[in-house]
Amino acid sequence: MNRLKINLKILKKEAKKEIEGAKNLKELDEIFRKYLGEKGELRQILHSLEKISKAKKRRAKIGKEVNELKEFLEEKIKDKRSSLAKVTESKEEWVDITIPGKKPSLGHLHPLTQVKREIEEIFQSMGFSVVEGPEVENEWYNFDALNIPKDHPARDMWDTLWLKDKGAKLLLRAHTSPVQIHYMEKNQPPLRIIVPGSVFRHEATDTRHEFQLYQIEGLMVDKEISVAHLKAILAEFFKRFFGKNTAFRLDPDFFPFTEPSFNVSVTCVICGGKGCNLCKKTGWLEMAGAGMVHPNVLKNSGLNPKEWRGWAFGFGLERLAMMKYKIDDIRLFRSGDLRFLNQF
Ligand code: DAH
Repeated sequence: MNRLKINLKILKKEAKKEIEGAKNLKELDEIFRKYLGEKGELRQILHSLEKISKAKKRRAKIGKEVNELKEFLEEKIKDKRSSLAKVTESKEEWVDITIPGKKPSLGHLHPLTQVKREIEEIFQSMGFSVVEGPEVENEWYNFDALNIPKDHPARDMWDTLWLKDKGAKLLLRAHTSPVQIHYMEKNQPPLRIIVPGSVFRHEATDTRHEFQLYQIEGLMVDKEISVAHLKAILAEFFKRFFGKNTAFRLDPDFFPFTEPSFNVSVTCVICGGKGCNLCKKTGWLEMAGAGMVHPNVLKNSGLNPKEWRGWAFGFGLERLAMMKYKIDDIRLFRSGDLRFLNQF
């Protein structure tokens, strides 16, 4: 019997060691079967007990010890099972901080915004302030103050989008020129400003025209201002914006708010000046209207035309972007087509 007692002790020690060393639930199940299963070691001991000892008392004592061992092992296995389960659980939540992160796909500024900012920087570096004005105007600022009276045929040049309202005739500004008036009303020369902003036209769209577009108005007012100043500023602007000496020319034109008036063209980059559909086979593309500010415009803004002189221009921002990036259809900018936008 003593041998059996020793066996139980050894068995307890071994089983305990194995349970503690189990690496996973599968191994633990095997240990359970080995000691506590149908054909497990404890069962076998109980069987063998019957053969070894006839004495009832003794058998009962050993039987009790085997049962205690059984309970002990069951408890041990239970504990081990829950601690193994915890490890597996926490493994599922485990984060490998060495794995390279996922890059969120970042957007970028719209090409027109990029171009607008670039233009602003160029003019700011030449001492111009960036000024904004209202997109909803009345007739005075959009037309009359700019020397375009009601019956003047020049009003036909701006197919206007009128707003339905109560009384005052309001419209979506057809150009950024009204901001010249707003600014001169409130500021005394010398003045140097550019005015980027949206303008709206009631017109059909094609490769060169949109019903909503950006303009960049320019205005310089001082004592002895001439067309030479205008040309010098334009030349410097084109050089910096296009990154090289760009051929441009001033052709006589008509605008009611300038005298003399010009249109400003650059060599068409699409065809290199050879002539294509975009430039109507001329090799030149009009970028801006410009001229010397009409005395009436100065007067309407409260400035004395005998004392002050100025020049002004109005660029189409989309046109500038088209020439810079060789884009042959103005409608692409607002198409929302990512294949186009992702190129910038
Ligand atoms: N406002 C004119 C337009 O939308 C463009 C323009 C022409 C602006 C001559 C000017 C200018 O400042 O001097 O067509």
